[in-house]
Amino acid sequence: MGLPEERGRSGSGSRAQEEAGAGGQARSWSPPPEVSRSAHVPSLQRYRELHRRSVEEPREFWGDIAKEFYWKTPCPGPFLRYNFDVTKGKIFIEWMKGAITNICYNVLDRNVHEKKLGDKVAFYWEGNEPGETTQITYHELLVQVCQFSNVLRKQGIQKGDRVAIYMPMIPELVVAMLACARIGALHSIVISWNQGIDLWWHELMQEAGDECEPEWCDAEDPLFILYTSGSTGKPKGVVHTVGGYMLYVATTFKYVFDFHAADVFWCTADIGWITGHSYVTYGPLANGATSVLFEGIPTYPDVSRLWSIVDKYKVTKFYTAPTAIRLLMKFGDEPVTKHSRATLQVLGTVGEPINPEAWLWYHRVVGAQRCPIVDTFWQTETGGHMLTPLPGATPMKPGSATFPFFGVAPAILNESGEELEGEAEGYLVFKQPWPGIMRTVYGNHERFETTYFKKFPGYYVTGDGCRRDQDGYYWITGRIDDMLNVSGHLLSTAEVESALVEHEAVAEAAVVGHPHPVKGECLYCFVTLCDGHNFSPKLTEELKKQIREKIGPIATPDYIQNAPGLPKTRSGKIMRRVLRKIAQNDHDLGDTSTVADPSVISHLFSHRCLTIQ
Ligand code: WTA
Repeated sequence: MGLPEERGRSGSGSRAQEEAGAGGQARSWSPPPEVSRSAHVPSLQRYRELHRRSVEEPREFWGDIAKEFYWKTPCPGPFLRYNFDVTKGKIFIEWMKGAITNICYNVLDRNVHEKKLGDKVAFYWEGNEPGETTQITYHELLVQVCQFSNVLRKQGIQKGDRVAIYMPMIPELVVAMLACARIGALHSIVISWNQGIDLWWHELMQEAGDECEPEWCDAEDPLFILYTSGSTGKPKGVVHTVGGYMLYVATTFKYVFDFHAADVFWCTADIGWITGHSYVTYGPLANGATSVLFEGIPTYPDVSRLWSIVDKYKVTKFYTAPTAIRLLMKFGDEPVTKHSRATLQVLGTVGEPINPEAWLWYHRVVGAQRCPIVDTFWQTETGGHMLTPLPGATPMKPGSATFPFFGVAPAILNESGEELEGEAEGYLVFKQPWPGIMRTVYGNHERFETTYFKKFPGYYVTGDGCRRDQDGYYWITGRIDDMLNVSGHLLSTAEVESALVEHEAVAEAAVVGHPHPVKGECLYCFVTLCDGHNFSPKLTEELKKQIREKIGPIATPDYIQNAPGLPKTRSGKIMRRVLRKIAQNDHDLGDTSTVADPSVISHLFSHRCLTIQ
């Protein structure tokens, strides 16, 4: 993959050194020495040693980590039991079954009483309106969680019950989740208020006592249900359990963000998304971290809001989605550079493949060329990071999620299910369980087996396409369902979209397949332009030329439509399923309840391309 010119121009100011790849081309960015020096994993060699141990001896590796947590009863029997092969019987995964603990106790009481972090700030809360702020310490959080646990118990909620929570991004949402976890109830964060059943917070909290004995749970008891974003089909209730999830989010948080006690961490994700569960709530709290919790959006009251918050709270580690980066890129460098951002040390992304153009901007402008970027590939189903660089250890390649996290054994399979070695492209699967893997689909174990284990017995199937390059780096090419087949050539959406976004006029692009009498399928592209650019036949021609040059004539699009907005899920994922229907003028859209802004759909329908351009 070619990289834009500024790679070579980073100059002596850049502390991330480029290394020449096989073709003599500048290809990767080394971790900055000042990050490596104090990092938990300071070199690639150390990463490789730890990774090897984690997959060869998973019981010992995770067993050592488990010792850092509080267990009422340690694991009495096998540390890990599982079956990943549908042909051998029921799929199951059990980590530490029989061990007794409580995740709320571990992220709060343990930090307050054992680690003496009671006075440390757990969250700086920043409201949508600038100036609207509060903060909450670990001790205060513990008191509120105990109070709300008592409220829930008074409502008759017991261990194993399910509690739906509907709240904005405020500390009370974290309190409610942790209170459920404390009493052994499963939390499920939803998008609508249910008149008649739902109750008001302030009325319930008034009388509640501030001590509450936790409910002691088996490591394999369910912790929460989270419905997947539904960018493809009907949402599934993903079930995570107490013990394995706790170990996995705590460990990924520590190593992937290279967490140290003085950090101020900020993950911009909504708590209703898995990223919020794992890296706003459980991962940071398990490590005794201080985080920022932000209720607002990146463009209010202006497009420099995120960077003003970074300076205000002296944020050191910042985690967001490519969609937010592309959105902000449209407005140029000045809204970023007018703030200092001097405290930033590590930047992260999650949710979609990040196109190299956006990666380079994030690195050059937001991170001032000094911050490593952790491009974290994972899923609601995986609980935590799966493929990711480690900031002090991994040379980065823009657009690649690089290497597996500890305990993760990836493979790339061809259509016949054979493992491909070396440079290869195919289905991304995982060969063995890691502690954070989901255990079932709520109420439908068969759907769990069919969706993730049936296609290739013996493997967990991600549903994502992936390429491994000559250096062993993994590159996610997008959901297999979204792959394009033009005249028998398979193309990835990520690849074509990335070529479009490299044009200076294009802020964001989404590409879908469209029926074609000769080619089988042709490319229909939706492009969102940067401020100050106009859609014109000349631009369409330039974009086609760009794709021909970057990928090849086979990928030349037949249709390019101007799209001021794209249908996205609330977590920012483009819904290509809906775009395919729009391209075909098919109004039978199926379930669109997860579209963040439905008005963009009617606009796109009424501005469809009617003829091949
Ligand atoms: C995609 C989000 C490329 C992928 C945590 C995956 C990514 C789906 C990346 C899961 C990344 C997530 N690079 N693709 N760094 N991160 N994805 O369940 O297609 O909302 O299967 O979990 O997002 O989305 P989910």
